[in-house]
Amino acid sequence: MTPLLWQLIYTSHATDAFSETELGAILAASHANNPPQGLTGILLYSDGRFIQVLEGARDAVEALYERIKADPRHEAVRRVITREVAQRDFADWSMGYRALTATDLVSHPQLLDFFAEQFSADGFGQAGSPARFLLMAFRDVA
Ligand SMILES: Cc1cc2nc3c(=O)[nH]c(=O)nc-3n(C[C@H](O)[C@H](O)[C@H](O)COP(=O)(O)O)c2cc1C
Repeated sequence: MTPLLWQLIYTSHATDAFSETELGAILAASHANNPPQGLTGILLYSDGRFIQVLEGARDAVEALYERIKADPRHEAVRRVITREVAQRDFADWSMGYRALTATDLVSHPQLLDFFAEQFSADGFGQAGSPARFLLMAFRDVA
């Protein structure tokens, strides 16, 4: 039986403003830990807020999410979407990273929806899925 491919998107708030060094430490851990677990995804950071997409086998994704959730470097960790997918959207990234500027957010206003209290996935139909929308935004600001 083919194992389920699982995609989880969450948002959170950095506990303190993040320096490039601190972000670098998170990415170093991700690049070391994610590939052996078959995990891929992206991390977007903007003005003290994170959006992360995790994808891989369901158990591996949930285990990583639990570990990340307990990390004191961020808070208000909120699971936005969990879904079964047929294929990875971020197959090429053990953990891709972009810092988004205010200009990126203005040109991709739907990104703001990820941080809204009442998140609705309805607006993402055009892109196919929230993760695909993030993927496009991620590529655009590369
Ligand atoms: C916003 C955020 C995203 C993170 N993403 C990952 C990740 O994708 N993979 C990972 O292994 N750790 C990630 N971490 C770090 C974990 O919380 C944890 O510190 C790390 O996995 C511990 O790894 P180590 O035991 O190798 O140091 C993230 C932390 C934060 C705050």
